[in-house]
Amino acid sequence: MKTILITGGAGFIGSHVVRLFVNKYPEYKIVNLDKLTYAGNLNNLKDVENKPNYEFVKGDIVDEKFIQKLFEERKFDGVIHLAAESHVDRSISNPTEFVFTNVIGTVNLLNAAKFVWKDNFDGKRFYHISTDEVYGSLGNEGMFTEETAYDPHSPYSASKASSDHFVRAYLDTFGVPTLISNCSNNYGSFQFPEKLIPLFIHNIKNNKPLPVYGKGENVRDWLWVVDHARAIDTIFHDGKVGETYNIGGFNEWTNIALIKTMCQKMDAKLGRKKGESEKLITYVKDRAGHDLRYAIDATKIKKELGWEPSLQFEEGIEKTIDWYLENEEWLNNVTSGDYQKYYEEQYKER
Ligand code: NAD
Ligand code: DAU
Repeated sequence: MKTILITGGAGFIGSHVVRLFVNKYPEYKIVNLDKLTYAGNLNNLKDVENKPNYEFVKGDIVDEKFIQKLFEERKFDGVIHLAAESHVDRSISNPTEFVFTNVIGTVNLLNAAKFVWKDNFDGKRFYHISTDEVYGSLGNEGMFTEETAYDPHSPYSASKASSDHFVRAYLDTFGVPTLISNCSNNYGSFQFPEKLIPLFIHNIKNNKPLPVYGKGENVRDWLWVVDHARAIDTIFHDGKVGETYNIGGFNEWTNIALIKTMCQKMDAKLGRKKGESEKLITYVKDRAGHDLRYAIDATKIKKELGWEPSLQFEEGIEKTIDWYLENEEWLNNVTSGDYQKYYEEQYKER
């Protein structure tokens, strides 16, 4: 039985990856390592927590000794590394935390893998999950390919870019068999409501202002999280060591068009008059260093590994809104306590 370590498995994307692997691969033992920060939530994994091939370990990837010991004890066959501080706005108010988790945490994992695999890398894989934000910002034309030069602008993307460089350096210098993928914006169930889509669903439902940064003209390329998890499965199993794969939805939206679409759909679902939720739109101070446009060219993964998105956005956003409306308890749990403090702080000067 192979033992696979998934870091950050209690978070948004990680929980979808854990669910997919636990259900699809009963022959693997899946170890989910997560610190359970504000973004980690074991309620995201209720449906798999009692499966015999699943185990949760609470721990911090920044804790070098703990990571070293865990690798020595468990001798993982593969690592899928998702644990990270992931919110751009938080990286603007507290950059250092992003260096600890995203850079030092990643290096600790690489060191532990290098140490326990002891230069015998047969059948081993260290797969690092990264973001399209490392490529910087596009103008109105063009797309990010795997060859696009790194040009990060936020402390978050700078920390992810740095971790990507370390991952490649460990392959080149020590032979650790690494792979990287860079994905565009994900949406779907279990996303913490600090991110645009779940935050705005929550605010529309509660008749709270919708804080649109700047003019709402920034463009993001949205992908259903389950399709990202499928891509991760494909790359982990069929991707070539040393390669980078871009993952995206070929699905670009300006923020304002997306927000208006969500308002219209929620008017219908909540039995409100047409146009009522749009009145909540409030233009606020722009995010510092706000990247204008992201767009992923996902041709390579389609051509080489046969992956493409399975769900059209129209259907995906419907499903997503329905999920948040039906899972009121999940949303209420994560938006109580510390969340209130975060929200006041983050939006007070906007
Ligand atoms: P998330 O914030 O929802 O989850 C992150 C998880 O990591 C949480 O469960 C948290 O508890 C855990 N974690 C944080 N610090 C830790 C530490 N020091 N030790 C152990 N665990 C720790 O993030 P997400 O949106 O699911 O993103 C997952 C990964 O995918 C990240 O690496 C992110 O950069 C990348 N990514 C995200 C998106 C997106 O749209 N959300 C897109 C592309 C790439
Ligand atoms: O592109 C991949 C990245 O997508 C991931 O690497 C990050 O982890 C993930 O957080 C996401 O980053 P973004 O900054 O693009 O996502 P966010 O949901 O924070 O914002 C999406 C867009 O909406 C962005 O242009 C900022 C804008 N926005 C966001 C919030 C929270 C608003 O206008 N108002 C808001 O209140």
